[in-house]
Amino acid sequence: MQMEVTLQVKNVTIIGSGLMGHGIALKFAQYNCNVIVYDPNDVSLDSLFERIEISLSQMEIKKEEIKKIISSINKTNNLEQALEKAEFVIEAAPEKLDLKQNIFKEIEKLAPQDCIFASNTSVIQITKIVDQMVNKNRALGTHWWNPPHLIPLVEVIKTEWTDEKAMNKTIQLLKDIGKIPVRVEKDVPGFIGNRLQHALWREAISLVENGVCDAEAVDTVIKSSFGRRLSVLGPLENADLVGTDLTLDVHENVLFDLEKSEKPSNFLVDLVEKGKLGMKSGEGFKKWKDQDLETTKSKISKFLKNLEKII
Ligand SMILES: NC(=O)c1ccc[n+]([C@@H]2O[C@H](COP(=O)([O-])OP(=O)(O)OC[C@H]3O[C@@H](n4cnc5c(N)ncnc54)[C@H](O)[C@@H]3O)[C@@H](O)[C@H]2O)c1
Repeated sequence: MQMEVTLQVKNVTIIGSGLMGHGIALKFAQYNCNVIVYDPNDVSLDSLFERIEISLSQMEIKKEEIKKIISSINKTNNLEQALEKAEFVIEAAPEKLDLKQNIFKEIEKLAPQDCIFASNTSVIQITKIVDQMVNKNRALGTHWWNPPHLIPLVEVIKTEWTDEKAMNKTIQLLKDIGKIPVRVEKDVPGFIGNRLQHALWREAISLVENGVCDAEAVDTVIKSSFGRRLSVLGPLENADLVGTDLTLDVHENVLFDLEKSEKPSNFLVDLVEKGKLGMKSGEGFKKWKDQDLETTKSKISKFLKNLEKII
């Protein structure tokens, strides 16, 4: 549904119309923002409205409403036009430092003076991305999660230069469009969520690499045990639930044996070198069939939609 909320910001520009850009755009459009999506790649721009329509229908939004939401979104391959009236910009371009640095240098020249600039980078420090800007105090990170229109969290990352007013305005805007923003006070690689997630993935890969179990077993253990309660019980709440004394005893007896490598595992490097890239190539840690990618994406959407109803 299109929501009747008065936002402090009306004109939002999204840089990059891919997986994340399309979902972020639709979320702002749902709240009556004038959204403009820029992408230098016409192929991606051409399919934008169709992808937004599919995502909105997965959210069980009615056809007339979908039309109304899409009518708030414009698309362009002209950066100047995209930024002319921008009050808030979110960059969702590929995860390459030099590309993002160039974008931030460029958009600073073209956007109005009081515009806020946010990067949706997954793990790159915002400090590095905005390093070449003249006025760094209106730049910050907003790390949305995939699918961005269904996962509520957005990490809002502050650099040493970010103005507190820009942080507060961003957090309020995200709250107003129904997201759950969390402040990240220090600009560390991976912020909060991806540090936690990849600590888990590093151990998961290590268990397989060291022959403790196969990939199927790792995923079954997580999905059928603590994965089930993670949406309602965070790890530190869980530590308090079982007691910090028990947590200490467990750590005394297990931490010494956990994976500590500072580099990606050889097992992972080997998969990539062999072209075993996961669902898109038919094999990664496991073997996949053509239809598995779509089935998995649809299972996730359905689950997240149902979760909204019960939490
Ligand atoms: N995919 C995820 O699960 C996920 C989750 C959170 C954050 N992110 C981050 O969001 C960003 C975008 O990821 P994605 O998955 O949407 O990628 P994507 O490849 O689906 O989309 C990137 C888009 O950027 C466009 N692009 C290329 N060069 C550009 C330029 N110079 N200026 C503007 N746009 C350009 C591409 O044409 C493409 O449409 C990345 O930084 C990624 O790390 C991704």
